[in-house]
Amino acid sequence: MSRGALELDEQSLITAKLIRRYNGGASHQTAESNLEEWIIQMSFVLDVARQGFINGEPAGTIVDRLAGRLHDIRRNAGPDIWQQLIAFAQQHPVKEYLMQDPFTRWSVEKPRGYSGDASLLDIYYKHPAAREYIEASTPLGQEIYAYTSEAASSVAGRERCEILARTVDEAADRAENAEILAIACGHMREGELSKALKENRLKRWIGLDQDPVSVGFVTRDHAGTAIEAMEGNVKGLLRRSYKIGTFDLVYASGLYDYLPRAIGVRLMQRAMELVKPGGEFLFANFSDEITTDGYMEAFMDWPLLLRSADDMWDIINGAVDRNEVDAEVFYGENRNIVYGKVRKRG
Ligand SMILES: C[S@@+](CC[C@H](N)C(=O)[O-])C[C@H]1O[C@@H](n2cnc3c(N)ncnc32)[C@H](O)[C@@H]1O
Repeated sequence: MSRGALELDEQSLITAKLIRRYNGGASHQTAESNLEEWIIQMSFVLDVARQGFINGEPAGTIVDRLAGRLHDIRRNAGPDIWQQLIAFAQQHPVKEYLMQDPFTRWSVEKPRGYSGDASLLDIYYKHPAAREYIEASTPLGQEIYAYTSEAASSVAGRERCEILARTVDEAADRAENAEILAIACGHMREGELSKALKENRLKRWIGLDQDPVSVGFVTRDHAGTAIEAMEGNVKGLLRRSYKIGTFDLVYASGLYDYLPRAIGVRLMQRAMELVKPGGEFLFANFSDEITTDGYMEAFMDWPLLLRSADDMWDIINGAVDRNEVDAEVFYGENRNIVYGKVRKRG
C-alpha cells in the first residue's frame, strides 16, 4: 500500500513527522562541543558493533551490547543531542547489517506508511502470517531476529496479547453475551487466544482500526465469529461519529504509546461513555523502564511515548471521577508494559 493511501487522523503520533511536530516546542540549541563528545562516543559504539559483525561475533551479543549502550546514551545525552545522534546513526555503515533483521527492516520501511502497524507486530508475535517474510531474510538477518524477537520488549508485547485475551474471557465470565470493543485492533491476534470466542460466548467483539488493510485481514480471518472489524479512528470516536452502542469491555492496546496525554485523557473519557455499568476500560503502554528504546529510535525509526505507573494514574485521574470507578495500574511480568484498568461501578 502506498503511503498516501491511508488518511491519518493525526490524533496518534504514528509518523516521525507527527512526533517531530509534537516535540517542536523543545529547544534545539546544543553546545557544539558537547555534541562532538557525544558523536565520538556514539561513533565508537557503532564502530564496535560493525566490527563485531565483520569478525563474525554472535549477532545476539552484538545487538544486545549495542542496544544497552544506545539506551544509556539516549538517557544521558538529553533529547536535543539524542535527536542528532539518531541522524548520525542512520548514516553509519552498521545499519546495513541491522537492516537484514526482518523486524528492524519492516519497521524502517513502513510498508503501511506509519509506525507500529499490525504486520510489524505479527513479526514479533512470531505469527504464522509473518513466517514467509522472516524466512526470506539472510541468515544473519534471521540470527539478529532471534535476538530482537526475544528482547524484553518483544516478550512483553506477546504477553500483552495473552493479557488481552484473558481480559476478554473475564468479561465473558462476568456478563452473559458480552460485548467487547477493541480500539486500534490491528490484526486482533488476541482473538486467536480467547476461549470465550471459541465457545461462542460473546455477543459481539468489535475491532476498530484506521488501517483498511488490517480491517480487511480481521474480517477475513475471523469470518463467522462474533468479531466484526470496522474502519474508524480516534478522531471519529472523540467526535462520537460511530453509533456502536455500549460494551462490557473496551480496550486499547498499542495505541496509547502514540497518544499525547491530552488525547489519551479524552479518549479514556469517551471510552468510559461506551462502557456499561460494571464494565471495564483497559489500556496498555510500553513503560519507561524498557531498555530497547535507543535501538528502536535509532535503528527502527520507531519512537514511542513511554509511560510510568504514575503517568498512567495521571491519565486515569485526568479522565474519570475516582468516586465512580475502581481503578488499578499494574505491570506485565518483565515491567516493559504497564496497564491501566478502570471499572465503572455497577
Ligand atoms: C501497534 S498496533 C496494535 C494492534 C493491536 N491492538 C495489538 O495490540 O496487537 C497499532 C494499531 O493502532 C492503529 N492506530 C494508530 N493510530 C490510530 C488512530 N488514531 N485511530 C485508529 N487506529 C489507530 C494502527 O492502525 C495499528 O493497527
